[in-house]
Amino acid sequence: MLLRKRVAILISGRGSNMSALIEAARAPDYPAEIVGIISNRAAAEGLEIARRESLPVAVHSLKNYPDEIATDRAISQTLESWGVDMVCLAGFMRILSAQFTQRWQDRLINIHPSLLPKFKGVDTHRRAIDAGEKKHGCSVHFVVPELDAGPVIARSSVPVLPGDTPETLADRVLLAEHRLYPRALKKALQRLPESAQQPAA
Ligand code: GRF
Repeated sequence: MLLRKRVAILISGRGSNMSALIEAARAPDYPAEIVGIISNRAAAEGLEIARRESLPVAVHSLKNYPDEIATDRAISQTLESWGVDMVCLAGFMRILSAQFTQRWQDRLINIHPSLLPKFKGVDTHRRAIDAGEKKHGCSVHFVVPELDAGPVIARSSVPVLPGDTPETLADRVLLAEHRLYPRALKKALQRLPESAQQPAA
């Protein structure tokens, strides 16, 4: 019998990558089940989608805690109460503390809209066009304290076409993201060390 790993998703906005993961996990042979969604913004559109899917949701916003460390501790507590094996960042627009990323080391992955190690950080589509790139795309990587610098699990590329604007290129990359993330999560789960499956207290 397939033992499905328990996966939570952290979002800040529309949640289209979250939806792609939820969709993939509907397949009985997919090795993960989505057990909850956390947002740092109560108004994140993706939370509505999660509620419609009857998934547990939680909001942990920086403004409700004394500092970043306390906020991240609250996120960890929620994840642990859900018995989570792996955490997926999907448009989570806050940089998590080093304490958090170390606590979830090897169990925390992110999708980034560039072919890493190119174009870490923000505004990746405009920067790719300005640099005259012929190819652009997205990457899923393990999260480490340094921004967008963890080991890459999988990448997917798309062409940069003449006349592309950051918006047209972003749309093309987003379609690739939705295909890539479920595949990369599956791959990351295969690498999950047994010892990493129960979070440390
Ligand atoms: C995606 O482009 C993702 O790569 C980036 O933020 C965006 C989130 O979009 N990290 P969505 O909320 O998944 O629709």
